[in-house]
Amino acid sequence: MATDSAAARYVLDGSDEDLRRLLKISALLDAMTRTALATVDIRPGWRVLECGCGPLGAMPILSDLVGPSGQVVGADFAAPTVARARSVVTELGLRNVEVRVADINDPASSIGDSYDLVFSRCFLLHQRDPLRTLTRIRDALRPGGWFVAMEPLPNPPPFSFPPHDDLRVAWELLHRAIERGGASPTAIDDLPATAREAGFDVVRLGGSFQPADPATGFGLHAATTVAVRAQIIASGVATSEEVDGVIDRLHTAAQGGYHWVTSPLSLTVTLRAPGP
Ligand SMILES: C[S@@+](CC[C@H](N)C(=O)[O-])C[C@H]1O[C@@H](n2cnc3c(N)ncnc32)[C@H](O)[C@@H]1O
Repeated sequence: MATDSAAARYVLDGSDEDLRRLLKISALLDAMTRTALATVDIRPGWRVLECGCGPLGAMPILSDLVGPSGQVVGADFAAPTVARARSVVTELGLRNVEVRVADINDPASSIGDSYDLVFSRCFLLHQRDPLRTLTRIRDALRPGGWFVAMEPLPNPPPFSFPPHDDLRVAWELLHRAIERGGASPTAIDDLPATAREAGFDVVRLGGSFQPADPATGFGLHAATTVAVRAQIIASGVATSEEVDGVIDRLHTAAQGGYHWVTSPLSLTVTLRAPGP
């Protein structure tokens, strides 16, 4: 079962435009995601859970890695997002992928158990109680199972060349809105320590970012700001004029004058549940 109130508190707006944004992010982060997953020797036939899969997440990559004898379960608490994910999965012919409406934090939700691997991307930063979420994930793994998390650090902000200050402003607005929405502001900075507290071994720490062409990069940062616009204004983080100014200037920058724009810097953490 999804927790409707938890999904309603989620800071990004979940509109069609936002889902299209997440599909573009999945394409941009493909190589980074494969590198993060290569830290685990994933075998054909494995069962894998993606937490907060969004409309696509890493499900095509995971589907490919576990092969036809494996199974991928995508879980997301937003029913419209799951509906979109199911149609994308059908369109792509990913027969070993199933998408469920489920709140990872809700013990009554049907996320399944005994997974060989859990994956999360841009998910933990939205959680109110990271220790509770990590404990739920640990309990969903088989003994000795793996958790790979690829999560954006709040600092440093994304960067362009030449530098554009609204990238920093947009990134700060997003994080302040996430924090006002009740999520832990240090969820990612604290992730290795919280993971140990939840009983995981921290096997590897890494980090990466992906530069993009200016149209894609500024376009995605503008789209993220649009997706969080209502929450930024409602929570008093900035006025509509201030947010719209940032969005307009990012759109203008997408039209030329820049060489490249980066994704956020992601912390990549490979964790292992206690062994058999
Ligand atoms: C920023 S999106 C990232 C989507 C995807 N992981 C990706 O990287 O493309 C975060 C997703 O997590 C979902 N989400 C957030 N908290 C959740 C929770 N507690 N349980 C299930 N889904 C959650 C949201 O609905 C949203 O689709």
